[in-house]
Amino acid sequence: MCGIIGIISTNEVSSRIVNSLKKLEYRGYDSAGIATLVDGNINEVKCEGRVDILEKDILKFNLKGDIGIGHVRWATHGKPSKINAHPHSSEQVSVVHNGIIENSTILKKFLEKKGYVFKSQTDTEVIAHLVTDYLKKNSLKNTIIKVLKKLHGSFALGVIFKDRDDLMVGARRGSPLAVGYGPNENYLGSDSYALKSMTNKISYLEDGEFCIIKKDQIEFFEGNGVKINKKVMNLSKEDIHYDKGDYKYFMEKEIDEQPSTINDCINEYVDRYNNQINIYNFPWKINSFQSIVLIGCGTAYHSCLVAKYWLEQNTNLDVSIDIASEFRYRKVRFKKDCLYVFVSQSGETADTYAALELCKKNKMKTCAVVNVVESSIARDADLVLPIYCGQEIGVASTKAFLGQMLVLYILSIKISFDQKFITKKDYQSKIKNLLSLSNSAKKTLKLDHKLLNIGKVFAHAKGCMFLGRGYSFPIALEGALKLKELAYVHAEGYPAGEMKHGPLALIEEGMPVVVIAPRDDHYKKTMSNMQEVIARGAKVLLITNKNKDEVVSENIWEQIEVDKLNDELIPFLVTIPLQKLAFYSALEKGYDIDKPRNLAKSVTVE
Ligand code: M6R
Repeated sequence: MCGIIGIISTNEVSSRIVNSLKKLEYRGYDSAGIATLVDGNINEVKCEGRVDILEKDILKFNLKGDIGIGHVRWATHGKPSKINAHPHSSEQVSVVHNGIIENSTILKKFLEKKGYVFKSQTDTEVIAHLVTDYLKKNSLKNTIIKVLKKLHGSFALGVIFKDRDDLMVGARRGSPLAVGYGPNENYLGSDSYALKSMTNKISYLEDGEFCIIKKDQIEFFEGNGVKINKKVMNLSKEDIHYDKGDYKYFMEKEIDEQPSTINDCINEYVDRYNNQINIYNFPWKINSFQSIVLIGCGTAYHSCLVAKYWLEQNTNLDVSIDIASEFRYRKVRFKKDCLYVFVSQSGETADTYAALELCKKNKMKTCAVVNVVESSIARDADLVLPIYCGQEIGVASTKAFLGQMLVLYILSIKISFDQKFITKKDYQSKIKNLLSLSNSAKKTLKLDHKLLNIGKVFAHAKGCMFLGRGYSFPIALEGALKLKELAYVHAEGYPAGEMKHGPLALIEEGMPVVVIAPRDDHYKKTMSNMQEVIARGAKVLLITNKNKDEVVSENIWEQIEVDKLNDELIPFLVTIPLQKLAFYSALEKGYDIDKPRNLAKSVTVE
């Protein structure tokens, strides 16, 4: 899941490539590089680490050139290092790549026998040498056709050629690739976001296609070389200048934005005047499906898990959830009367996209719950339900998680009412409750002060647990995921009732355990499970909601109380302290909060 940018122009390109790479760092940030053509020759500057370092090196090197490609990497083959950073070049060509070449070992052996010498441990370098080899006996276009046939796996590619400052090539299979149209210059990008500051005119390559990009013309081809026409799309003009404002970290800002993102999303779907939910473009009759499958990865999967409880509670649908990387390879029995819902912040997650494609191939009804409406998943699904939470930069998903849950909740009560599963009175009361969510989220954010100190304890723990029942179980999983990815602390989420079946053995004196126990139907049971871990030495942070009664339990180390809302809405509120807990734990350790180690924002490889 790397980031790609290419520019062909009549002006120097390196500073603009660097600016785009900065935007693309959400896709990978372990190394970066750029190649331009100067007097027909390929010049490369590469570094291990962030684009800031690359920028300084480029200035030192005084890199010129009116055509160039750039890359930010998330390592797949070969550790993060300068030598493994892209572009990978031979004397003849320079290549940037997102994806994985699955037959690279075989191709490497074949090329080594022909005398090609490899410098890196990457799978990408085979492409540079393969193109070089085919160019000896083929035209440029035929070379591309033949090389693409040889490659197995997934890729988005950008290629420039020695002595050809009039063109660059883009190709895609599996990984997304966009081209942009500018005034006397054109662009290539792993997504439209990288291009938005330069143009709002975009086309997307479909799987198996390639393109030849010149300053004043872009030609598109199917993999076999047949020329095709492409639709040019106009992106929304606004290139939202999303910065940190007064915050030091995007994640901190994104957590604090949640009351307003909740409001923005509700405003899009709820008609406050008529007290009803509007999903205008819903293309199916409500009785045309009997079941629903929700699919996602990571945090998005957790939002599906919460939605399962809502949908089972409020509709008569048969509800299943799936992790996209599992779903895509199982022998799934596709059902005509099923709605398949794909949840993804980026809309580019490779596994989720592949699961969607599989459903489309089987002619299923598909719906995308995404943040990026120009994404591949949004473009290919039958119905798109945006979460309207604005750009999310922090690798750890926060406001998008709340946004995903919100849209899934809205969808569940809409289906519920349309199925006549609930009365109009209940429907409108659910909507009324929803309207108070933003305000309660705002109050929850103020519970901050305690979590700063609590975070210091979790930061230094050998391991910890997050427990909950009902809606609070998926929230426990999400809390544990946040702590793992930000503070690098081993954390497990468990259904509180499962502890006695094994994990209780892990509890030892002083181990921090988060118990999520709002005063819902599970409260008393969870309280008993909490006492079982306290009895074995756990230090419990209890997250519950306000009530007239005192918490009926003892020996709790720390306690956080969110607002008392309708039980169905509690998952939104109890999530916020967990986000803060992970944030403060990472802060205590001085870790890179917006870009945790080994991760990337958009996961476009399997
Ligand atoms: O863009 P997506 O929502 O499809 O991403 C899915 C996961 O990669 C993502 O939620 C990941 O788990 C986050 N880093 C969690 O904070």
